[in-house]
Amino acid sequence: MSVKIPRGTQDILPGQSEKWQYIEAIAKDVCRRYHYKEIRTPIFEHTELFKRGVGDTTDIVQKEMYTFEDRGERSLTLRPEGTAAVVRSFVENKMFGHPDQPVKMFYTGPMFRYERPQSGRYRQFVQFGVEAIGSEDPAIDAEVIALVMDIYKSAGLKKLNLVINSLGDAESRNAHREALIAHFEPRIMEFCSDCQTRLAQNPLRILDCKKDRDHELMATAPSILDYLNEESKAYFSKVTGYLDALNISYTIDPKLVRGLDYYNHTAFEVMSEAEGFGAITTLCGGGRYNGLVKDLGGPDSPGIGFAFSIERFIAAMEAERIEWQVDKGLDCYIVALGEEAKDRSVALVHQLRTAGLSADRDYQDRKMKAQLKASDRQNARFTAILGEDELAENRITVKDMAEGSQENVTLQELANYVKTKLEAN
Ligand code: HAM
Repeated sequence: MSVKIPRGTQDILPGQSEKWQYIEAIAKDVCRRYHYKEIRTPIFEHTELFKRGVGDTTDIVQKEMYTFEDRGERSLTLRPEGTAAVVRSFVENKMFGHPDQPVKMFYTGPMFRYERPQSGRYRQFVQFGVEAIGSEDPAIDAEVIALVMDIYKSAGLKKLNLVINSLGDAESRNAHREALIAHFEPRIMEFCSDCQTRLAQNPLRILDCKKDRDHELMATAPSILDYLNEESKAYFSKVTGYLDALNISYTIDPKLVRGLDYYNHTAFEVMSEAEGFGAITTLCGGGRYNGLVKDLGGPDSPGIGFAFSIERFIAAMEAERIEWQVDKGLDCYIVALGEEAKDRSVALVHQLRTAGLSADRDYQDRKMKAQLKASDRQNARFTAILGEDELAENRITVKDMAEGSQENVTLQELANYVKTKLEAN
């Protein structure tokens, strides 16, 4: 029996991987404009990092981590998200000492969560994220949100809803926490066993419960916005004020809590509103985490960031039927007829590639008709045909597949001819 791919993972095949590259290229270019630089951290970290960083009471830590012991009996975990690792690195590399704060970074790579796979939810997925660590200026919150909206816009996505909320500072959160306990406690036995534990550990997590989401007490639960102290209110209104100034529209949703423990103040998600998009509509999630750097052993340095998965980005592009501006095919395919022409085509295809063009030829000793079909299938813009007669004259016939015209050029001219024609288009 053959071995199959693990559940919740996928092969990204040639023809599909171009979509990943396309989105990553757009995202990286937007990051360049906003002056965010790439950071690469390991795919596995000490388990402790996520327990402390993401939070002991979150679903991610309690149910979804791929944790294993290495041969040295250390507990390691495949990263379920990027923020904790970026913050660890910020602390470990003393980036808080840089003269320019915040330190603005982006990252991309696979993340791992043992979740129930369904459309838009995988056990291995690729996140693109940014983190700006070292400033509590609400303008940075607006910048990070503007950055992600810019990425979506640059890709052509339109049917989006930016949802934001404030989770307030520690004082506001404590007041809200007390109110949540008072609200749920009398009827907590009607909730799932997870929620019963959440009540004491972290009642905010109850609002995020997938099982009890329809319970009547959910709709009437106290809203964080009613518990924000003056400082938190002022901070939130600065952020929304900046978004208004940037013409970024948003919806305030006091129920937006996010599934990770490190957030305070600004929390946001971007949802797809495209018809036919699957049940999970969240494309991107992010927010401010002012206590995380300190929790992970650094100074009291505030941060904010977001992450989205490329998988859901692609699903949104497809739901909105946006045409992919990806590589359309080969620049030139060489059809060679006869032994001598085939030998000669080895150097010819090399000459095209050296000139910066994408080029290919036949490797299956096929007849002319099959080679022409291959050129067609591979979407070659030019098909160059080298027969014995042409070879005798040191020339080659070049067909422009888009215009239907053809010309006869010398072998030496071929690369230049194709290049000039492509540039003229
Ligand atoms: P998160 O909300 O857990 O936040 O994930 C962010 C995004 O990752 C989601 O909106 C979704 O696009 C994608 N995602 C999450 N789980 C899956 C999955 N199983 N399959 C496919 N895509 C998925 C974080 O990870 C935070 N680190 C974001 C952040 C950065 N906050 C501050 N800085």
